[in-house]
Amino acid sequence: MTVKLLAIESSCDDTSASVIIDGKVCSNIVSSQDEHALWGGVVPEVASRAHIRLIVPVVNKALDKAGINIQDIDAIAITRAPGLLGSLHVGVSYAKALALARNIPLIEVNHMDAHIMANFIDEPQPNFPFLCLTVSGGHTQISIVRSHLDVEVLGRTIDDAAGEAFDKTGKVLGLDYPAGPLIDKKAQLGQAIYKFTEPNIPGLDFSFSGLKTSILYFLQKQVKLDPDFISNNLNDLCASVQSRIVSILMNKLVRAAEMTGIKEIALAGGVAANSALRDAMKARQESLGWNIYIPSISYCTDNAAMIGKFGYYKYLAGQFADQSMEASARVDE
Ligand code: KG4
Ligand code: ZN
Repeated sequence: MTVKLLAIESSCDDTSASVIIDGKVCSNIVSSQDEHALWGGVVPEVASRAHIRLIVPVVNKALDKAGINIQDIDAIAITRAPGLLGSLHVGVSYAKALALARNIPLIEVNHMDAHIMANFIDEPQPNFPFLCLTVSGGHTQISIVRSHLDVEVLGRTIDDAAGEAFDKTGKVLGLDYPAGPLIDKKAQLGQAIYKFTEPNIPGLDFSFSGLKTSILYFLQKQVKLDPDFISNNLNDLCASVQSRIVSILMNKLVRAAEMTGIKEIALAGGVAANSALRDAMKARQESLGWNIYIPSISYCTDNAAMIGKFGYYKYLAGQFADQSMEASARVDE
């Protein structure tokens, strides 16, 4: 039996739709909302309104690209949590209405677990059990994945997410939002000569807010001595910030691998696009014998293909939602 799923993602500032047929990605349309750059970050109300404007054309484009009609869709997978509540409401309301009108089932998807499932879109794919470091603009966590439907979080950030650390330090350095990709680019032209302290957090949890503050104080002091300090040293500053964020992430991931004895290690989320983090993974593959898995960049940043991939596994397991499903900003509600 052929299973045709429509998947929709609207948890933050990307409106995305994808068609998944028998677990294979047949289309993946992502419409990023440019309007947030103007404000230096995502404005929730602006995001909700943009989702309302974009959701119908994005879904139609995904169906067209896959060459199928809405009448042929067997179920709709939708991001229910976590994310911006207003943005999630747009996707969830649209999916509920479409499912009701077409009389087909709904599948609710957790955005963070879906990021992990991006590792199952292309080859090679991780073997169970594996560890996944999921690093995005809103979340940072290490999970143990025992099966597609059995994911346990071992550690998470206690304050800012890794992507937020990139974006907030980038703002201090005068870079546009989202600063992560810009820091990545400039860091390649600089050296990590400034040593920012690594936080001492027990276990597998992360913290990034101290790093942001120490960079801010460091810059305030330097700019007093030389008003052009930032512009004269931007590449080295970017390399130093990136190097510290990557070392915070990698040290915890190495610890998780040691604690669990697992050498199958995956990355997921927007920050997995970072070249220094990808290089650090490759270095551990050599030095520690890890088997590493990193989705292609278009499946690292927010996309509906990963929602559909997770939705497909839930479909096969008969895990459906009903019309009482509500969007939630938090992961555990
Ligand atoms: O997963 P994602 O697309 O959206 C959320 O679910 O948050 O992640 C977006 C985050 C942003 O903070 C952005 O700055 C960061 O991913 N990012 C990067 C890179 N590309 C995107 N951070 C560092 N280096 C990159 N190359
Ligand atoms: Zn995300």
